[in-house]
This record gives sequence, structure tokens and C-alpha cells, in this order.
Amino acid sequence: MERKNIRLAVVYGGISSEREISLRSGAAIYEALKRGGYTEVSLFDLKRDNLGELLALSPELVFLALHGKGGEDGCIQGMLELAGIPYTGSSVEASATCMNKIHTKEILVHGGIPTPKFITLYRSEVESEQDAACTLLKKIGIPMVLKAPCQGSSIGVRIVKKREELEDAIREVFAYDAVLLAEKFMEGTELTLPILGNRHPRTLPIVEITSENEFYDYEAKYTQGMCRHIIPARIDASIREKVEAMGTRAYIALGCSGLARIDFMLDSRGDPMIIEVNTLPGMTEMSLFPDSARYAGISFEALVDQIVTLAWEKTKEDS
Ligand SMILES: Nc1ncnc2c1ncn2[C@@H]1O[C@H](COP(=O)(O)OP(=O)(O)O)[C@@H](O)[C@H]1O
Ligand SMILES: [Mg+2]
Repeated sequence: MERKNIRLAVVYGGISSEREISLRSGAAIYEALKRGGYTEVSLFDLKRDNLGELLALSPELVFLALHGKGGEDGCIQGMLELAGIPYTGSSVEASATCMNKIHTKEILVHGGIPTPKFITLYRSEVESEQDAACTLLKKIGIPMVLKAPCQGSSIGVRIVKKREELEDAIREVFAYDAVLLAEKFMEGTELTLPILGNRHPRTLPIVEITSENEFYDYEAKYTQGMCRHIIPARIDASIREKVEAMGTRAYIALGCSGLARIDFMLDSRGDPMIIEVNTLPGMTEMSLFPDSARYAGISFEALVDQIVTLAWEKTKEDS
């Protein structure tokens, strides 16, 4: 079958806190697929009650443009597996693992891949915010980063630089989830590494991120001019090689396929550490992944075409 004539549904929107971003990613992907010569593409806004309508379109392949809960966590992937519909990106298992920053870090640690020192706290096990603060001060220390493990777009991320802010931050992060991830604050440069591929992943140019805000928060991520993507990142060749090798190893260890974007921070000595893996990274035309691809000579149209091709090839590899 001619690949460009397959019945493709770009699924976007969804029910997560990142719905707005997904609407932008999906629209950009849809336009790029059409410009790139795909003849039967539809754009499907996934809501709570319209899964049946998606199946009724009987797509031959689904391009996932969802972010966050329901879309990036293995749920929609599982539904598509059961329906026998191939989809772009990672499997149920890899998606679910990467959605949870604690599980991701556990696999990294197990694989000997550097990630900032961390501990987890369970809401049911802490007596009070004060009690939690004591543990965190003892085990991690100031400055530290608190995260709700299953959020994205910097939602539920708090950087704590003063003791007085800690209890508030704990309360805020526990409002998102019953589990809290506390991590050592990394003072160095922020980097991200886009990767494309199935069994033989290929790295794209590393992007250095600088933000106008204290960190790369929601506003900095999605407001034009609030952050800069510097490509290629201003790092030594030895660091670049480390980031590429660590990222590729993490991609394989976590079982990613199609694409992923791996976030890094450099520590005070300039050594790279992985902070998280995004299996459905932002795909608006100004997002990090397409920006890096463009620098490597891959247009946005060529990028979405490659993602479709990888999904198509994976169904053959798996069968
Ligand atoms: N350990 C850390 N040290 C310093 N800054 C961090 C650390 N972890 C996260 N950040 C900052 O917070 C942002 C969001 O954290 P991240 O773990 O990538 O979650 P997400 O992007 O899913 O919200 C990062 O882009 C970075 O700017
Ligand atoms: Mg991130």
C-alpha cells in the first residue's frame, strides 16, 4: 500500500491539563501531513465520551498528538492495541513508565544512567507538612525541586530555595498526587535531546534552553519570546557525546519507540543528568523537537512523515 494514501487520524485535544498544547500540536501535525502529501488525513478531538466515533472512522494508523494523562500514559495506546490500530510513538508499557517521573528514574538508576538524587514521599505516610519538610531537608537539602510525578509542562513542579517555602510547596505538590518526588536541584545548563527511531534510535541536535523566568515553567514554555532554544547547545564535544550516549541508553532501557525527547540538566560540575523522558513531546512548529529536527535538515513535513513511517515499520517488526 502506498504509505501516503493510508487513512490517518491525528488524535489531539484529550482530557489532560495539557489539552491546549495538544490542540496546537495536533493542528500543526495535521497541516504538515497534508502539505507532505498524505491524502486521507482527519483531525479528531478526543473527549471523554467520543472514543466510539474515533473507531468508527476506522483509521489505518493513528498519529497521537495528545499530551499528559490519557494520551501520553499508555491509556489510548492500550485502547488502540485492542482495536488493532497502529499508532505513532511508544508502546503502552514505555508510555506508562515515562509518564511517571519516579518510575523513569528508578529504571535509569537500575541501568546506571545518571539522574539527580531523589526520594519519594507518600501522603499517607507523612504526619504533617512539617514532618515531610524535616525528612526532605535531611535527605535532599536546600535547594531542591519538588514534583508531582505524573504531570507535565512544569505543572506541579516547585523549586524550593528557602526553608520557609518548603511546607507550602509540599502542600501544593500533594494537591496533585498522593506521591511526591523530591530531587536535588541542578544548577547547570538545561538541555534536551530529541531521539527518533525504533530499534536503532538516532539522536537529533541537542537543544540548550534558557528561560526568562526562574526556571523553564509553563509560561516560559508556551509564551513566544519567554525562552530561547539554542541549537546546537553550547557544550563541549565530550559533554555532547555523553548526553547522546546516555539519552540513547535511556531510550532503549525504557523501551521507547518512534520518538521521545529526553530532558537533561548539568550539575555543578557540568556532568549531565536525565530529569525526565517525554514520549509525546510538544509538536507545535515552535516546539523543541521540530526546532532541533529543522537544524538537522529535517523539515516539519519530513519529520511527521518519518514518525508515521516508524510507526508503520514497528507493526512489521513486532509481528
Ligand atoms: N533537578 C532539577 N534541578 C533544576 N531544575 C529542574 C530540576 N528538575 C526540573 N527542573 C526545572 O523544571 C522544569 C520542569 O521539570 P521536568 O522534570 O522536565 O518536568 P515537566 O517538563 O514534565 O513539567 C525543567 O524544564 C527545569 O527547568
Ligand atoms: Mg520537562
